[in-house]
Amino acid sequence: MERFRWLKVVAFLWLFLFALCGAREIRVKDNAPVYNHTLAKILVEYASAVYMSDLTELFTWTCSRCNDLTKGFEMLELIVDIQHCLQAFVGVAKDLNAIVIAFRGTQENSIQNWIEDLFWKQLDLNYPGLPDAMVHHGFYSAYHNTTIRHCLLKAIKKATKFYGNVNIMVTGHSMGGAMASFCALDLAVNHGVKNIQLMTFGQPRIGNAAFAAYFSEHVPNTFRITHEHDLVPHLPPYYYYFPQKTYHHFPREVWLYNIGLGSLVYTIERVCDSSGEDPSCSRSVAGNSVADHLSYFGVELAAETSGSCRIVMDSLIANYGAVDLGGNLVLSRDPATSMLELNSQIRSGSTSAS
Ligand SMILES: *[C@@H]1O[C@H](CO)[C@@H](O)[C@H](O)[C@H]1NC(C)=O
Ligand SMILES: *[C@@H]1O[C@H](CO)[C@@H](O)[C@H](O)[C@H]1NC(C)=O
Repeated sequence: MERFRWLKVVAFLWLFLFALCGAREIRVKDNAPVYNHTLAKILVEYASAVYMSDLTELFTWTCSRCNDLTKGFEMLELIVDIQHCLQAFVGVAKDLNAIVIAFRGTQENSIQNWIEDLFWKQLDLNYPGLPDAMVHHGFYSAYHNTTIRHCLLKAIKKATKFYGNVNIMVTGHSMGGAMASFCALDLAVNHGVKNIQLMTFGQPRIGNAAFAAYFSEHVPNTFRITHEHDLVPHLPPYYYYFPQKTYHHFPREVWLYNIGLGSLVYTIERVCDSSGEDPSCSRSVAGNSVADHLSYFGVELAAETSGSCRIVMDSLIANYGAVDLGGNLVLSRDPATSMLELNSQIRSGSTSAS
């Protein structure tokens, strides 16, 4: 009897899931970008790998997170802004036929403190060239006013020269998602890149409604993934009664949440409306979980060790890097050298690097 009842529960859940999937398909407009679950599961692994602090393993794509769905990734440039504790990479995923750019989230000692600060962030910078668009200065500068941007643009230019006009996918988690957003917009508006896809995980709000409208016009292929009660997407706060003065997310949110009973739990991926602030998505629940912030699709999105901006590098890799006056480090690979060659060169300590 007991078993029979469980079967009924399972059957009910499946029906429920099918109903939801059906409804989701109908909601998608003809030429609106379609949310791709498979791609989300791949990109979240890139957003996770960029947190790794062993630069040799990351550069050679042999780290513990450089596996699974990202196997075969060809790193082109790994950029570490030591001064501002930022990290990003550019490379090519042949299976996606795309250049992938990933930004690391905050590496501060206490993620709790970082999050608490987010409550008070002001819209304190006019987005250049747009009279009504306001953004958060700190997030803007992390991308626009550090070593990161200059190095990335150079690497992307190198990559498109070598691989042709492939797609460009930009990703990041938390503050890395905020930087990824500014990067995608920069590429679209200032560098004429047409085929950009942006997918971020648990990112905070970065600008006001005027900025969000401008953003979604220029980077339409954007999915902003949120998870259950993750509190970062709720910050800095959105004030419903002050639409012109408040932070406002750009679309399109995809909210991950669980349904089910006991051990029968399923994750629903709810594709939200085009407002950016769909009240039936993550805004329908309280943002009160740090744990939900640190894991998306079961993938860990944080540094493997907590603590400051630690990097680990062995001397063999020094041939591939250059340190600038600000103490920033850029490791780059000649695209004509295969990753296998790169690996064996580094392991044998050869100096025939580009
Ligand atoms: C989703 O993305 C994957 C990986 O890029 C791709 O193989 C697949 O064809 C895509 N699916 C759709 C429906 O576009
Ligand atoms: C960029 O950084 C420099 C040096 O840190 C600073 O003086 C300048 O005001 C910053 N510019 C912007 C737009 O944040």
